[in-house]
Amino acid sequence: MSTARDSAQSLTESNLPVHVGIIMDGNGRWAKQRKLKRTRGHTEGIEAAKRVVVAAREIGIRYLSLYSFSTENWKRAKDEVAFILALVARNLREQYDFYRENHIRLFHSGNIEGLPPDVRSEIAAVTADTEHYDGIYVNLAVNYGGRDEILRAVNGWIADHNQAPAQYLTLDGLRAYLDLPEFPDPDLIIRSGGHKRLSNFLLWESAYSELYFSDRLWPDWTREDLIAAIKDFQVRQRNYGGAE
Ligand code: IPE
Ligand code: IPE
Ligand code: MG
Repeated sequence: MSTARDSAQSLTESNLPVHVGIIMDGNGRWAKQRKLKRTRGHTEGIEAAKRVVVAAREIGIRYLSLYSFSTENWKRAKDEVAFILALVARNLREQYDFYRENHIRLFHSGNIEGLPPDVRSEIAAVTADTEHYDGIYVNLAVNYGGRDEILRAVNGWIADHNQAPAQYLTLDGLRAYLDLPEFPDPDLIIRSGGHKRLSNFLLWESAYSELYFSDRLWPDWTREDLIAAIKDFQVRQRNYGGAE
C-alpha cells in the first residue's frame, strides 16, 4: 500500500517551489455543510493549516505564506471577525511547542496597526521568539491586502526620501518597502474552496506566480492536497515573458 510519504517521494526535489502562498478558503462552507456555525470552520481551518505546514516543511518548501485574514474580511459580522482574530491570537500564543518541534520561524505581513492590541503583541512576541528557527519560514498574512501593502510601501518610501534630492521610485526601490522583502516572489499560489481569484493576495509578488485552484474546502486539506498542487506545478513551463 502506498503511504503519504511515498507520494511525496515522487516529487522532483530539484524543481520544488521555493515560496508557496495559500489562500485558505472554504471554512464557512465546510461548517455550513455540516450544519455547524461558521466559526467551527475556522477552528478546523487551523488544524488544516498545521497539517499543511508540517507537510510543506517535510517536502522542503522554504517559504510559506498563509492568507489568514484580509483587509476586506472586516466586512463580515462582528462576531465572526472577533472570533477569527481571537483564534489567531490564541494560536500564536499556544502553538509554541508546534513551532519548536517543526523549527518554524513566523513572520507577519499586513497592516499591523489596524489589528487589536492583543493580536499585535502576540505577533510581536512570536515573531521574536521563533527568530532562531529555520526549518521553514511561515508568513501569516493577517489584515493583509495586496493594494494596502503597495500603498504602505509607496508611502514608506516617500517618508524616507522626501528630504533627498528629487528621485524616482524604482521597481527594486518599491520592493524593499513591501512587508517581507526577504521573501522571494511566490512560485506557486494555491487557493482552496473552488473560487478562482486572488482576492487581494500578494498582488505585487504574484506577477509570475503559477496558480493552482482546488475545489476542496480548506478544513479538509491534508498533505496529499499539497503534494498534488506541487506535482501540478512541477510539470509547468515558466517563461517570464521570454520566448517559448
Ligand atoms: C476562509 O474561509 C477564511 C477567511 C476568509 C478568514 P471563509 O470564511 O471565507 O469560508 P467560505 O468561503 O465562506 O466558505
Ligand atoms: C480570501 O477569502 C481571504 C482569506 C482566505 C483570508 P475570502 O473568502 O475573503 O475571499 P472572497 O471574498 O470570496 O473573494
Ligand atoms: Mg471565502
